[in-house]
Amino acid sequence: MIEFPAIQTRLNAEEEQAILRVLREGKTWAAGPEGAAFEQEFAQFIGSEDAVALSNATAALETAAILTGLGPGDEVIIPAHTFVSSAVPFARTGATLKWADIDPKTRLISADTIAPLISARTRLLVIVHLYGLTADMDPILELAKQHGLVVVEDCAQAPGARYKGRRAGTLGDFGCFSFHSQKNITTLGEGGMLTVRDQETGRNARRLRWMGNWPFEGERAAYWKPAMGNIVEPAAGVWPHNFCLAEVNCAVGRLLIKRLDSINASRRRQAKRFHEALKAVPELVFQELPEGCEHVYHLMAARFDGGASNIQRDALIRLLFDKYEMKCIVQYWPLCRSELFGKFGLGAADVPETDRYFDNMISFPWWSEMGDELVDDLAGRVCAAMAELRKA
Ligand SMILES: Cc1ncc(COP(=O)(O)O)c(C=O)c1O
Repeated sequence: MIEFPAIQTRLNAEEEQAILRVLREGKTWAAGPEGAAFEQEFAQFIGSEDAVALSNATAALETAAILTGLGPGDEVIIPAHTFVSSAVPFARTGATLKWADIDPKTRLISADTIAPLISARTRLLVIVHLYGLTADMDPILELAKQHGLVVVEDCAQAPGARYKGRRAGTLGDFGCFSFHSQKNITTLGEGGMLTVRDQETGRNARRLRWMGNWPFEGERAAYWKPAMGNIVEPAAGVWPHNFCLAEVNCAVGRLLIKRLDSINASRRRQAKRFHEALKAVPELVFQELPEGCEHVYHLMAARFDGGASNIQRDALIRLLFDKYEMKCIVQYWPLCRSELFGKFGLGAADVPETDRYFDNMISFPWWSEMGDELVDDLAGRVCAAMAELRKA
């Protein structure tokens, strides 16, 4: 059975050695030089003013939500079609979530789906570069500017992706990255990064990240007085968290960002081959790329438009699973339709394209460095299953 692997990119020998180096030679396994270097190198790679290593992308989204000072009475616009972590940190502040629909071609939030939801209470937009494709940011940033809105980019699925030459995570006020083992690159299972526009926000994020532990400023009579270190308020009115990432994770991350562009280029080659092979199946409609967007193909998903052939999406998934040993999945359950958001009174939404997409989408097994043979094999199974369904 071919199915989604729980690890998308395996480590090479050099990356394995980095783990051993930190274990054997590291002066610390937490909050040390690997973390500082990873942040600096990531900021340089992405092109952001600063970057703060955190335990995962959810922690990065939490940090962005907290530092923005959102609260009851504020409104946040967010796509209903995304992973749950994009939304919970903003809901937790007490702000009201307004669910935006997706564009039917890109399957991403757009200026057109955002604009009707803007009110005098809107404070923040969460832009999710889902599947590895950047949203069409220029018109979104123009709207944000007109209305004075904070823009948070959820780049969990789009590390290294570019929009008109700039990397995702440098376009809005905050960029939130994931290095979970199912992402394009991983820092050993868990990991995340927050990119920010200025050093002060970066400093506040670092103060928030480790329970407000922070050095005293200026000279002191003795290093242990009044205490070894200070405990500070990360930003006005903000309680701190523990969102730290360990040294061994950061050491691996430093090496993986050097490989990220080549991993993404190989995913793009895979995608091109897969799309070519599936031209024979017009029922599968893949994402369209707006001008200037570079995809990093975190996932390979299509909408199944079976109308003309009268074939149902579920029949294809079932046949692929039962006979062709290929386990496709359906994602993401529109958050407004989920139990969690319903319980908190956030179930109301007018998102017809989100519903249509979820009810008709199919996501194929996909990971880094699959190789031409395997990509052809997967496409061949889909073509064979469709031929069988057409005859039935
Ligand atoms: C779009 C999106 N946002 C956020 C996250 C959360 O990432 P993490 O697991 O690093 O917290 C994910 C993870 O799947 C995701 O897909």
